[in-house]
This record gives sequence, structure tokens and C-alpha cells, in this order.
Amino acid sequence: MDIEAEIRALQLDSAGKDNNATLIPEDAKPEEVEMTDKVEEEGMTDEVDTKSQPVQAEPKVKDKEVADMDCAEVPDEMESQKKRHLNVVFIGHVDAGKSTTGGQILFLSGQVDDRTIQKYEKEAKDKSRESWYMAYIMDTNEEERVKGKTVEVGRAQFETETTRFTILDAPGHKSYVPNMISGASQADIGVLVISARKGEFETGYERGGQTREHVQLAKTLGVSKLLVVVNKMDDHTVNWSKERYDEIESKMVPFLRSSGYNVKKDVQFLPISGLVGTNMKTRVDKNICPWWNGPCLFEALDSVEVPVRDPKGPYRMPIIDKFKDMGTVVMGKVESGSICEGDSLLVMPNKAPVKVLAVYCDEDKVRRAGPGENLRVRLSGIEEEDISSGFVLSSVVKPIPTVTEFTAQLQILELLENAIFTAGYKAVLHIHSVVEECEIVELLQQIDPKTKKPMKKKVLFVKNGAVVVCRIQVNSLICVEKFSDFPQLGRFTLRTEGKTIAVGKVTDLPSRSSA
Ligand code: GTP
Ligand code: MG
Repeated sequence: MDIEAEIRALQLDSAGKDNNATLIPEDAKPEEVEMTDKVEEEGMTDEVDTKSQPVQAEPKVKDKEVADMDCAEVPDEMESQKKRHLNVVFIGHVDAGKSTTGGQILFLSGQVDDRTIQKYEKEAKDKSRESWYMAYIMDTNEEERVKGKTVEVGRAQFETETTRFTILDAPGHKSYVPNMISGASQADIGVLVISARKGEFETGYERGGQTREHVQLAKTLGVSKLLVVVNKMDDHTVNWSKERYDEIESKMVPFLRSSGYNVKKDVQFLPISGLVGTNMKTRVDKNICPWWNGPCLFEALDSVEVPVRDPKGPYRMPIIDKFKDMGTVVMGKVESGSICEGDSLLVMPNKAPVKVLAVYCDEDKVRRAGPGENLRVRLSGIEEEDISSGFVLSSVVKPIPTVTEFTAQLQILELLENAIFTAGYKAVLHIHSVVEECEIVELLQQIDPKTKKPMKKKVLFVKNGAVVVCRIQVNSLICVEKFSDFPQLGRFTLRTEGKTIAVGKVTDLPSRSSA
């Protein structure tokens, strides 16, 4: 049976929930919005070190004076003047060129000066990693630079004509897939980087290669649009060969389709050289690549369309990190609803009532922010030690459900050798920013992959490729939503011993679960 084809049966689609953001700079009066944007753009010329922090880094929170205008008084038309914001995750096999391409984007958008590049060139040479200097822009810690491998998800910002982007540079190495999952679960769109160098595409695409695993995970985690960049086109084994590009595209298309992507609508291919910076900010020269008539990377990113989200939904912000700074500050991406200074919210699952003292988007204090934004929120009423990543900052009126058990539809991908999937099976559950040990307590029904209907026979165990409905238990309370209510908070992966063994969606919650 074709396992990949079965993933589609899950229909893990995020349509209708992804969207553009709304955000209002704190001091902005309507006539000042344009100016505020300009200041932000100028801020982008800061040395990249201050911008490309790993997820775990403690950001510096600047304090500005608090304006006392009520959020409700902020006119709605201001929201439309702000560029949309999207998180873009860079995924793909180890050494495909994700960090190099991310670094090149920052260089081309003027955020890294020549002197810094020269410094990185020297440092890379001293570490016998000459060609890695562009990756050093994203790979900021010593271990990453010595080994030439991303470990933590690197973060950086840049802008195109229409959009403010946060790059999430995921690691490709299989040991760090959990970090990749954390990056992808915050992303709106993905850039899948594929190396066209002889032998490298093949290794990444093989079973066990991360090209496949990342695509399947990205789809499950709600990355609805993919730009597939065929990288290293400058390499001497490729030399901008149309045949090589076509070969890669023709192999990837059926695989992407079987992973649940609508290749015509949701996927776009393009050739680049991340190292040289070709076909990135401007289109490739016809002398280098006469056959390419499509867009460059910046144009493609600029024109990606994602559905509009409702800023008036119940507030949901999964917490990815927290720290102390004149109160308790939590970080995360708003998945639903809007937040305002002065709001009363709950930190779930511990139902702690909190008050919003301040909201920061990048370095700026803002009065109000909507879905899609990456925020830091200063709270009163809770100590930093009482919060863990995986908790959710949530609306009081409609808090996120908390459970120790839920029902889910699972697609088994590839179990460990000789393993069978049955009651008692233990795995690690990754759902939004939650990472928890879990146990399958009961298999309820197997779904016939052909008819998509439940099979009559009682099911005691299943094997690779099966679609099964089961009950899953965790030891402590976690926040989850039904997939049909909030896809981003209701889809998950199960991993065992460093391997993704299943993807799934939450189909039902116990009735006592709502807070
Ligand atoms: P991980 O973080 O370990 O998953 O790797 P990565 O995908 O971030 O790759 P990275 O950017 O670290 O690049 C790996 C190697 O590929 C480095 O030696 C880069 O110089 C090289 N490389 C990346 N992009 C290009 C390119 O466009 N052309 C050529 N010739 N080499 C490239
Ligand atoms: Mg990297």
C-alpha cells in the first residue's frame, strides 16, 4: 500500500484558518502610520546579530511610553495600512542550503554589511568551512558554526513589497527534527530547499531522507503553501541545467501531491543559487539561465496568497518561551483573535487569570495585534516559573479546552522495525508548542483507505499505512482543540525514538474538557 497516498485521507488542511495579521503600533495615530512603517524599515538595517536570534534566546524588550487610548477606539482602517505578516519556515534535507539562502536574503535586503560578511568569511575559513560564511548569518551559535549544521531554529525578519516576513530557519539533520517541528508549527508558508548538486537531491529524497519527512510534517503542521527552491544551481555538477531542474521537479511533484499538497494551487518551483544570490532579489540573467521565465524568490514570496483569518475569534496564543522582564513575558504566535493592552486573559491549562501589561511585536510596542503576529506579551498575575512552553494564552469567555485524553484519527506512517501499533503503544506527542509523552489507550476503528469509511471488524492492532481512530492519553493536562474548530491547534505528530511514526488530527474531546 502507498503510505504517502494515505496521508491525503486525513485531509489535514488549514484552509480557512491561516490569514493576514492586524497590528497597530502603539503610538500611531492614523496620519502617522506611514511614518511608523518607515521607521520600522530603517530599523531593518540593524546588524543582523540583533535580529537573527534563535527561538530560545531572550529578546530584548524595549520600553516606550504607554499610550492610554482605548483599543476599541482604534479605527479599523489603520489595520489595512499595515503590511501583512507571515512566518516562513525553511525546511529540507541537511546541507540543502537553508541557512545559506536565509542569510543571503538578509544580505540582499541590506541587513548585513560587507564588513560583517568579510568577518564571517574569515571565521568560516578558520574553521575550514569556507563556503559556510553565508550560513553564519543564520547559524549564530558556536556549535552550529563549527559543525556547519543548524541546531536551533534561527529567526530573522525581512520585508518585501507587500509582506513582513519572519524567517524560521529549521535544522535539516534528523537528530533535530523536534526543533524543525517547533519551527514548522509556527509557520504560515514554507520554503522547501532542495540541493540540485549531483547525489545530494537523491540522498535527501530517499526514504529516511529529510526532504520527505519535512514535507509530510509541514503539511500536517499546517504549512499550506510551499515554495520549492531548487538550490545550488551554480554548482559545477549542475551549471543551471534545465534537465536537472526538470528531473527534480518531475520527481517531487507526485510526492508532494501524495503528501496532500495541491501542486497547482499551493506549490511553486523555482531555481536559485543561495550561495551566489542568483534569482533571489532579482530575476536570473538570461546569459546564466536562458530557460527560466518565472519569478525570482522575492517576487514569489511577495505574491503568496494565504486565506484571511478572523481577528475577532477567541484569543489563542500557544506559548513557545517565557522570561522575566519587569513582570512575566511570554512569546508566541497568535493563532486566533486579537490582543490589546489591558486585556484580561487566562493562561491555560492552569486557568491563571492574567492582565496584559504590554504587547511587543518585533522591537516595537503595539497597542493591539491580531492573528498571525509573533508577539511578546508582558503579563501581571503570574510568575514565570508557573508557565511552560505548550501553555496557551487564551480568551476568558471562550478558553481553550484542556484534556488528559482525546480521540484522534491517525495515519500510521512508518513504525519502528517489527513494531505493531496497538493499545499500550507509547510515543511523544507534538501538538502546537506542546511536547508530551503519550499512550494509545484504545483503538476504536480502522478506516478503510478506499471507501474512507470505518471498517466493521473490531481492530486490535494496525500496521504501516493504516488509518485508525483511537484514544490517546497524556499524564498532565494539555491544551488542544478539535481539528475541525482550529486546525492549527488540533493537528499533531507522534514520534518514537527519533522517528515520526504517525500524523493525526484531534476529532473529539471528552465533554468535561472545556474549562
Ligand atoms: P542544516 O542546517 O545542517 O540542515 O544545513 P542547511 O540546509 O542550512 O545548509 P547550509 O546553508 O549550512 O549549507 C550547506 C553547504 O551547502 C554549505 O557548504 C554551503 O556553502 C553550501 N551551499 C548552500 N547553498 C549553495 C548554493 O547555492 N551553491 C553552492 N555551490 N553551494 C551552496
Ligand atoms: Mg542550516
